[in-house]
Amino acid sequence: MDTYISEAIRYVGADDKDIDLFEGQYVVPNGMAYNSYVILDEKIAVMDTIDVRRQSEWLENLTQVLGEKTPDYLIVSHMEPDHAASIKVLAEKYPHMTIVGNAKTFQLIGQFFDLDLAGRTLAVKEGDTLSLGSHTLQFIMAPMIHWPEVMMTYEQSEKVLFTADAFGKFGTLDTQEDWDCEARRYYFNIVGKYGAQVQTLLKKAANLDIRTICSLHGPILKENLGYYIEKYNIWSSYEPEDAGVLVAYASIYGNTRAAALKLAELFREAGVEKVAVTDLAREDMAEALEDAFRYDRMVLAASTYDGGMFPVMEEFLHHLKAKNYQKRTVGLIENGSWAPASGKLMRAFLEGMKNITVVEPTVTIKSSMKEGDLDKLKELVKALA
Ligand code: FEO
Repeated sequence: MDTYISEAIRYVGADDKDIDLFEGQYVVPNGMAYNSYVILDEKIAVMDTIDVRRQSEWLENLTQVLGEKTPDYLIVSHMEPDHAASIKVLAEKYPHMTIVGNAKTFQLIGQFFDLDLAGRTLAVKEGDTLSLGSHTLQFIMAPMIHWPEVMMTYEQSEKVLFTADAFGKFGTLDTQEDWDCEARRYYFNIVGKYGAQVQTLLKKAANLDIRTICSLHGPILKENLGYYIEKYNIWSSYEPEDAGVLVAYASIYGNTRAAALKLAELFREAGVEKVAVTDLAREDMAEALEDAFRYDRMVLAASTYDGGMFPVMEEFLHHLKAKNYQKRTVGLIENGSWAPASGKLMRAFLEGMKNITVVEPTVTIKSSMKEGDLDKLKELVKALA
């Protein structure tokens, strides 16, 4: 874990290895990093606070970096409690510290805390700068990535962009893993709905000379920044990242599952290299959603249940819609013992999304897959080839 940025810009965040669900819903097998930074100059700025879960560790890190000094500014880039929960404790510890945010930030501070900040706030807007001495902070508004008050800060002398949640990932800083997988799962589940806002931000960032990206989660990015920026460009434009298929199934007794697995096998035989299969009832739905966005094609296989879709499929479709799933080609497999209806219902749901092509045929399985169903599965593979 390399958290060195420079002599003047220090990392003071903390890893959270025992959180059960991040944001109350996402499993994080490798924990979560809450990043926070300090810029030491004639004036000292703390760049965001931290989740209350690691507040004491953060305060120790901060005290160690500050020594006898006290911070002049707290820059608040995002008010979600994984970063903002310790604002009150810091504001009370350093009563002369000014809180820097925008109009929306201060509205949210007032909602989250019972805290009198009269005479201690500095409201900034797009393009405003704040000199710390040799370092100058330039503020870049990033509304709805993914809250309305979000802003980024560009430090002009060292060319460091503090990006709030953007470019973050799940997982602690000492986790040895690719950035892509957990950054993608984080992006689509947490930021995915706001592709248009991310596109706007990327256009603004293109005018900056960026040497380092300091996100509020995940590693400090110092090299090959174009790679990460391009991933964000693909993701936020809702274009597929890879040619491949996600086969997502919702099966009661395993018969729909058998059809889904057979279909995956047929895709592989047809030369599709990337085929992901997920059991929506048992596997991480956030990862299924990530794969749905990653690949250009998806097949949904669901049993009929109480005249509707087996509920986990309906839940998955709601997640996809909420995150603006679009520009993909989808195939359907339905199963039903007396009145198969899940195919029609899945199709109707998908028709409510933008630029989704649902191919024919919908494969109908009656109770269990038979030899005769193979041809229909092959037809579906062909339609999605
Ligand atoms: Fe990491 Fe939106 O908070």
